[in-house]
Amino acid sequence: MVKVVDGKVIAGEIKQRVKENISELMKKGYEEPCVATVKVGENKESNLFLNLKDKACVEVGVKPLRVEFPLDSSVDEIVGEINKLNSDEGVHGVVVQFPLPKHVSMHRVISSINQAKDVEGLTPYNLGNLVMGEERTIPCTPLAVLKILEHENVKLEGANVVIVNHSPVVGKPLDVLLLNRDATVTVCHVYTKDLKRHTKNADVLVVAAGVPGLITSEHVKEGATVIDVGITKTSNGVKGDVVFDEVKKVAGIITPVPGGVGPVTVACFLENMLKIYRNCVEEK
Ligand SMILES: NC(=O)c1ccc[n+]([C@@H]2O[C@H](COP(=O)([O-])OP(=O)(O)OC[C@H]3O[C@@H](n4cnc5c(N)ncnc54)[C@H](OP(=O)(O)O)[C@@H]3O)[C@@H](O)[C@H]2O)c1
Repeated sequence: MVKVVDGKVIAGEIKQRVKENISELMKKGYEEPCVATVKVGENKESNLFLNLKDKACVEVGVKPLRVEFPLDSSVDEIVGEINKLNSDEGVHGVVVQFPLPKHVSMHRVISSINQAKDVEGLTPYNLGNLVMGEERTIPCTPLAVLKILEHENVKLEGANVVIVNHSPVVGKPLDVLLLNRDATVTVCHVYTKDLKRHTKNADVLVVAAGVPGLITSEHVKEGATVIDVGITKTSNGVKGDVVFDEVKKVAGIITPVPGGVGPVTVACFLENMLKIYRNCVEEK
């Protein structure tokens, strides 16, 4: 019998813990935690995600602040604003909303965030530490995948894990996170030859391609754990990358879309925010 993961339940537990911890810190007289999100241009899907994140921040006692730039803004203008947020004592966390326009260097923008305020764990400092096995602030989506696997008691040591995504936000940090737990990891992408040959071998399959219907029952080993990270808005609602109804007949554990990885990612964002806020106020 397949286990369908309820991401909202896992997220609810994390959010409750974060809320209680923030409330305790505030009772000690520390200032209200504040996270600033830098957004460049407009994007429907990222707006949707940002609204959800801001709402979740308010629910646990974090003040969300938005810093919005027009699409044609220069990297220097964006980095200049991030530098101001870095030195603003009332702002504890700084986040950049993706996607960035093509002319804006993601590396330059992310690198300009003070690592102590890096809620998403994407600065070279935090990613470099991750590679060295020192897990400081872990990127939210890979952390959400890990939390789900831990919640479902999925053994990672020695497991064959296949990730379909090699972006710096999802696939690459998740690869390292799972290697740190002694899994055998294969990372696939658009240039991978014969995707099915790889996915069929996976004890744990994590898909984040943003291509609805990419993974069918033919791609999945009997009893495998299937984590669907993909989110695509279609005329039939929000869809993942996995053909849920057919893959759930083969998988042992599966996450739905919506209601799977998404809510846990938001909760992990709040957990990272709590960690950063605590470090900041307790060090003052
Ligand atoms: N649930 C959540 O919390 C959450 C969080 C973040 C992102 N997402 C979703 O996850 C998806 C990926 O996000 P992202 O920001 O990482 O996007 P991205 O940068 O576009 O990455 C997509 C990855 O999938 C690969 N890919 C695309 N089509 C493929 C195919 N047909 N076969 C094999 N590999 C393929 C791409 O390979 P190439 O680079 O070679 O093209 C790339 O590595 C999106 O749907 C996004 O909405 C969800």
